[in-house]
Amino acid sequence: MQHEILTLIETRFSANLFDASQGVSDQEIETMVSYAIRAPTAYNLQNWRFVAVRSPDAKVRLRAAAHDQPKVTDAAVAFIIIGILPDPDAVVTRLAPAVDAAIMSRDMAERWRDGARTLYADPAIARDEAVRSATFGAATLMFAASALGFASGPMVGFDAAGVRRDFDLADDELPVMLLAVGRAAPGNWPQKPRRLLGDVLEWV
Ligand SMILES: Cc1cc2nc3c(=O)[nH]c(=O)nc-3n(C[C@H](O)[C@H](O)[C@H](O)COP(=O)(O)O)c2cc1C
Repeated sequence: MQHEILTLIETRFSANLFDASQGVSDQEIETMVSYAIRAPTAYNLQNWRFVAVRSPDAKVRLRAAAHDQPKVTDAAVAFIIIGILPDPDAVVTRLAPAVDAAIMSRDMAERWRDGARTLYADPAIARDEAVRSATFGAATLMFAASALGFASGPMVGFDAAGVRRDFDLADDELPVMLLAVGRAAPGNWPQKPRRLLGDVLEWV
């Protein structure tokens, strides 16, 4: 029997139409995000934040910053997925629970911190890492939402400066993606066909 996660991958689609009469509970949002944060991040930095935009007023503000895309207000919640520029000095703190659980040594955690200092001295690499972490978080959130029976719609069509201003993002925070989540309305396209495996998979 096929594993359920493979079925979710096969059946997920990028939703454009949401049933605006269907909400999402605090607990459902907390469940989705609690799975999303199990996604991996470099050095386990967990350099992300998830803003659940759910109040009607906040959704209207976000929609205005998202080129007026109706799914921002129709979906039960629209997440702002934020990637945070990595702070090497946070590595040891973030790894402390793994040290306490005897998964890794404190020395090793300090070596990881030193590695992060070297790697993220390059601002381009630091920015890439913020985008990478947020993208992994968004993808995992998407599948957690699918597993709970919700549809999702990722969006890059928004004014980053407007989102930054209206939702009080800190200087080291990047609004990487919006993700509308809610119950699908009829009429959505199914998942679109993909390029052929042979065109994207290289054997070396
Ligand atoms: C990073 C990213 C940004 C996207 N931005 C938008 C968007 O702003 N508006 C929109 O309607 N769809 C957006 N999409 C949806 C894509 O068009 C959709 O994922 C693609 O057509 C594949 O659809 P499928 O997953 O249903 O097959 C975005 C998707 C991704 C992954």
